[in-house]
Amino acid sequence: MNTGSTNVDDTFRERTVFVAGGTSGINLAIAHGFARRGARVFVMSRSQDKVDAAVAELRGTAAAAAGYAADVRDYAAVEAAITACRDTFGTIDVLVSGAAGNFVSPAAQLSANGFRTVVDIDLVGTFHVCRAAYEHLTRPGASIINISATQAINPMPGQAHVCAAKAGIDALTKVLAIEWGPAGVRVNAIAPGPVDETEGMARLTPTAAHRDRVLQAIPLRRYARLQEIADTAAFLSGPAGANFNGAVLVCDGGQSTLGSGAFAAAWAEAEAAST
Ligand code: NAP
Ligand code: COA
Repeated sequence: MNTGSTNVDDTFRERTVFVAGGTSGINLAIAHGFARRGARVFVMSRSQDKVDAAVAELRGTAAAAAGYAADVRDYAAVEAAITACRDTFGTIDVLVSGAAGNFVSPAAQLSANGFRTVVDIDLVGTFHVCRAAYEHLTRPGASIINISATQAINPMPGQAHVCAAKAGIDALTKVLAIEWGPAGVRVNAIAPGPVDETEGMARLTPTAAHRDRVLQAIPLRRYARLQEIADTAAFLSGPAGANFNGAVLVCDGGQSTLGSGAFAAAWAEAEAAST
């Protein structure tokens, strides 16, 4: 990943950032964003190889970097990862929960286990990460960022499992904001629309035709850039974001302002053209 090695500022110097699912794509970009702002970063995902590669990469910019291999569906493993972070770097100032799974499948062909798998990773996993970390968060002052998606508010064909899971994340985010706000722990979410150079969009728009049609359903006619999501996470967790709590920040070039119809139609048209 091209990270740009120069530091943006030192807003997060002496701060610890834990990123669940932080070994590739958007979440790794978020980890780099905090690293470039002076933070210590700790990443967690299933694959030890991906954890090792991400940590090696992050050591190029972060004040310090470490990681742990765990599956967000396994609460004991998540607890162990959080404990490892706490033992290595102290209390956690910023917690990012972004592990997710996605594939396209019409609901009528989706097995019960397929539906459950995505809900378990995205929604139950987010609860696991937030719950396990809660007692280890710096308070007052901690910031939790859950990674949602515009599928939470825009129903999309082939995405029943993802839409349900991400809508659950938005609801969970708001409840935790109410319960944990008084302790000085802010809980917000970022809901990206399509983001360039990601596994998610490789799965959702596998061909140039998909991409071209989907672009027509985005008022800005472009996908988000990785760094824009990373900068949004840093903004929400930094001084300028200090009064955000229970917010879901949509970053989608205006896609969701058109409602689900335009995006769903563009995508369905591309599917039909590709078969
Ligand atoms: P990605 O590169 O595939 O990132 C997913 C990350 O989660 C990886 O680090 C993966 O590592 C980890 N992960 C997956 N299952 C896990 C599990 N069970 N336990 C622990 N870690 C797990 O995907 P991405 O496209 O960048 O998406 C990142 C986040 O952004 C997701 O929450 C996604 O829903 C959201 N999002 C993406 C887009 C987009 O355009 N791509 C749009 C809206 C929202 P391992 O394989 O090592 O586990
Ligand atoms: N279409 C329909 N069902 C699918 C599917 C697809 N493309 N891919 C997986 N499934 C189903 C499987 O058939 C299985 O159900 P079954 O037991 O009834 O057959 C269920 O989902 C679980 O699949 P499995 O491969 O065992 O899950 P896993 O835990 O190993 O992997 C996934 C989880 C399926 C989400 C996998 O794609 C993954 O690891 N994704 C992470 C990366 C990612 O999705 N990035 C984008 C994030 S936006």
